Amino acid sequence: MSRKIYVFDTTLRDGEQVPGAKLNIHQKVEIAQQLKRLNVDIIEAGFPASSAGDFEAVREIARTVGDTVSVTALARAVKNDIDAVYESIKLAQNPLIHIVLGTSNIHVEKKFNRSKEAVMQMGVDAVKYAKTLLPQVQYSTEDASRSDFEYLWQTIESVVKAGATMINVPDTVGYAVPEEFGDLIRRVNERLKNLNENVILSVHCHNDLGLATANTLSAIKNGAEKIECTINGLGERAGNASLEEVVMGLKVRENYYNCHTGINTKELLRTSRLVSHLTGLDVQVNKAISGENAFAHSSGIHQDGLLKDKRVYEIMSPEEVGADSMELILTARSGRHAFKNAVEKIGFDTSDAADFEQLFEKFLTLADAKKEVYDHDVFYLVTNHRTIADHDSHLYELVSFQAISNDLHPTATVKLKKGSEMLEGSAVGDGPIDALYSVIKTLAGLDVELKDYKISSLSRGKEAIGRVNIRIEHQGKIYSGRGMDTDIIKASAQAFLNGINAALLDSAKD
Ligand code: KIV
Ligand code: ZN
Repeated sequence: MSRKIYVFDTTLRDGEQVPGAKLNIHQKVEIAQQLKRLNVDIIEAGFPASSAGDFEAVREIARTVGDTVSVTALARAVKNDIDAVYESIKLAQNPLIHIVLGTSNIHVEKKFNRSKEAVMQMGVDAVKYAKTLLPQVQYSTEDASRSDFEYLWQTIESVVKAGATMINVPDTVGYAVPEEFGDLIRRVNERLKNLNENVILSVHCHNDLGLATANTLSAIKNGAEKIECTINGLGERAGNASLEEVVMGLKVRENYYNCHTGINTKELLRTSRLVSHLTGLDVQVNKAISGENAFAHSSGIHQDGLLKDKRVYEIMSPEEVGADSMELILTARSGRHAFKNAVEKIGFDTSDAADFEQLFEKFLTLADAKKEVYDHDVFYLVTNHRTIADHDSHLYELVSFQAISNDLHPTATVKLKKGSEMLEGSAVGDGPIDALYSVIKTLAGLDVELKDYKISSLSRGKEAIGRVNIRIEHQGKIYSGRGMDTDIIKASAQAFLNGINAALLDSAKD
């Protein structure tokens, strides 16, 4: 019989650790709501001890989506972290405390500077304490793939005896290779099932050698019952195992793995695009499952074969991952109902009637100007509206601008609004964008450095839309911003302002 594999999504914790992927609380809740539609089993919502903002976001996620999906958050093996996790997730129906502590020699010696026995005892004490708060506790043996096997096992045995209900074996630094990692999981699983057959064995693989998906699948083949992964493979350094790849690997090759997940695969592309849009991190075009070219066939021989029978070159259909329902083309005449449907379909909540009316007014203005409104326009409209509406008085809005390009003195004039305050200024720069960004920086009074500026065109629709992605550095942190408009100077100004607003939101929450 096909085994069920539990899917634990850590996009909002490990994924959000990516520089520049900072999300505000509303964006995190939107992603969590979409993860619920995707039907993941567990959402890791954050690391609440890291900041007041993270704590609030985890609590809001537990409150809003924790009725049907299990919610967890990360704690180091110390009381304060565990308390922060408990306090932030306790409103969920099925909350889980996740504790992490290293088991490799290098972690024990360099990070903790304690004996192996003392580190293990810290883990046991942490689990015992967590169990006084909640019945479900996951223990992650950080850097397991580089740990001495007998010490790894002794740790697992001790924390299971202390009450851990899930054991997660991470390949923290992406060092493992599939055969070896599979073997490790098989050995741990054999002993674990002898010790307590109810304890769930999980894996968490990083992608430093490009092997995260392969290692995760190999672990499943060797007995892992739960996988940790992220949308678009986001995560520390080269990222984590990509949820969409592992899930489709199991689905397409169920004949080999004899396993399945509960994931609603038709929501995969929508989830990928929502995460990419909100984090500002593009998906590479040839990425498996969610890349723009993942289902595109360009060679004549392939096209010919496909026309005869799709199965000649297609191992899964685009519809299976949700490609058929992606395209939304709305016009000013589409009406409230169609617009509401479109907003909900791409993963946003419309239950606040007053907020929806404001959004609809903005949609009508946009539809009048653009004639055809696509899903990416709706994404942009909703996220911009929500961010500004919720932080009306703290964030900057572009009121008007002028940028002049010439080979003597490129200049820009900008008018901004912040709450009820109007700000206006001009500057000269090396070019129109440089001038534009100089004025905005001066008006905002923030010391930000532009790290990256990228402009691309969105080809669909009758009008040419420029999309600008920027990354800025402020106080050592990287923030990203996006702007979309038919006018690329305006898109550039909006992207920069969105980056600045992200920095302001971040400092407001800490
Ligand atoms: O990579 C890692 O080891 C982690 C743990 C917290 C599971 O992210
Ligand atoms: Zn990790």
